[in-house]
Amino acid sequence: MRITATVNGEPHEVDDVWPGESLLYVLRERMGLPGSKNACEQGECGSCTVYLDGTAVCACLVAAGQAEGRAVVTVEGLAAGDELHPVQQCFVEADAVQCGFCTPGLVVATHDLLARNAAPSDPEIREALAGNLCRCTGYEKILDAVRMAADRLATP
Ligand code: FES
Ligand code: FES
Repeated sequence: MRITATVNGEPHEVDDVWPGESLLYVLRERMGLPGSKNACEQGECGSCTVYLDGTAVCACLVAAGQAEGRAVVTVEGLAAGDELHPVQQCFVEADAVQCGFCTPGLVVATHDLLARNAAPSDPEIREALAGNLCRCTGYEKILDAVRMAADRLATP
């Protein structure tokens, strides 16, 4: 089947999509957007988090057909050209990236959190990121990155 969707602000159309394919597979393998990671493919780790019509979802749990006619934003779409989004930049500066597999999902989840709550408390950050698993870090640097991003976004 053919899937037509707006991805990172651009119209995309792909053919020969099998109805059982996930949105994650279509993004990575058919649209050339490998930022969203495939770590568990079971909705457990959050590495594949993207926005679907403005709601953060696990792309591995979304059937490709469900994206028909809708707007998807991936971690690639948060940057402005070569300029990283402040959330992305803060993950770099806080050394919150080790293998990086969890990072795209954490960046999107943090972006979503800070859009809803500009000054989250530590418990609110932990709750918002509870669905995003990292196998490398002790989460402290990730929390540092989120706090740094909140401060930076609050500074005009
Ligand atoms: S790859 Fe989608 S939740 Fe883990
Ligand atoms: S940095 Fe490796 S899974 Fe998080």
